[in-house]
Amino acid sequence: MKTRIQEKFKSLFGTEGQLYMSSGRINLIGEHTDYNGGYVFPGAIDFGIMAAIEPNGTDTVKAYALDLEEYVEFSLREEDKPEQHWPRYIFGVCMETLKRGGKVQGFNTVFAGNVPLGAGLSSSAALESVFAFAINEINGNGIDKFELAKIGQSTEHNYCGVKCGIMDQFASLFGKEGSLIRLNCKTGEYKYFPFHPKGYRLVLLDTCVKHKLADSAYNKRRESCERAAAAIKKNHPEVDFLSDANRLWLDEVRGQISQEDFLRAEYVIGEVQRVLDVCDALERDDYETVGEMMYQTHFGLSRLYEVSCEELDFLNKLARKCEVTGSRVMGGGFGGCTINLVKEELYEPFVRSAIEQFTLKFGHAPKVYNVVISDGARKL
Ligand code: GLA
Repeated sequence: MKTRIQEKFKSLFGTEGQLYMSSGRINLIGEHTDYNGGYVFPGAIDFGIMAAIEPNGTDTVKAYALDLEEYVEFSLREEDKPEQHWPRYIFGVCMETLKRGGKVQGFNTVFAGNVPLGAGLSSSAALESVFAFAINEINGNGIDKFELAKIGQSTEHNYCGVKCGIMDQFASLFGKEGSLIRLNCKTGEYKYFPFHPKGYRLVLLDTCVKHKLADSAYNKRRESCERAAAAIKKNHPEVDFLSDANRLWLDEVRGQISQEDFLRAEYVIGEVQRVLDVCDALERDDYETVGEMMYQTHFGLSRLYEVSCEELDFLNKLARKCEVTGSRVMGGGFGGCTINLVKEELYEPFVRSAIEQFTLKFGHAPKVYNVVISDGARKL
């Protein structure tokens, strides 16, 4: 990837460019909790996006997406917002940097990546983060990493139409080799947890499906949560986010919100607690509890939050049958991957039977990713 990027940069722009890299992410537990002010527990992975970048002395960005073989130019004015999908992320990052008082001079860039698209591994956050990080460095802006994560998040909100939380961009920027990070999305406090589950492996199974309208369904989930939190706040003014509420307080407003909003909120309140329980269990090397919580999360995401799908439920059920320790849908949902915590000796038979049985049922094989927890955004 590195050589391909460097060669292309040289042939397009005649110079070398500086290389930067940022990562996709996994999340062990804590799904759809970030925009509810709750905990998440992600880590960056060894799949990422790499970019060569260099200021070009103009006010124009000249960008080449190597994997798509597409070249785009845009200037740094709001009315020059690119039509195409991928340049919007780069444009958004530039604009959000400017909004925060940062300097953004025009630049040349070539980028490529190996984060599977639509798999729930946050390829878009990797793209935002590599540019947020690089633009910050080459312009000497000195914006701190948490604010860089917010630049990526606001890019999603304001230029890509997804009202996401902070988890993906945070993980992509703060990732550390061998560690998961528990982030309190309300306060921004975070803690690294070394994650080397002896005798176990983490494997992702990608259904290779991405359901249409996933982005609008995601935004709807967020609205449900905000309605539930607003109803609870009437009785308990200290509640700003669903993560500030408890099950009893939610029960008090059962009659005032829709059944759908109630179920969404029930899931979130349970999930915030599960992250804490999983972190406690990890400190005791109690992987059985970690795994059980993962199954509970899957149940919640499937039945209460309704962001699973037939393919994901199938893989989850199969994991149970194969005595996999923990398994659940990962990321936003509506397709993408399951994350599985599996004992070494069960890895082979589980993966084999997942491939066989999934193919029989759906006519194509799931993809298998053995991810390594790695560093986040960096200069190479
Ligand atoms: C997507 C969003 C994140 C988070 C997850 C679900 O990945 O980008 O902010 O909400 O879904 O946990």
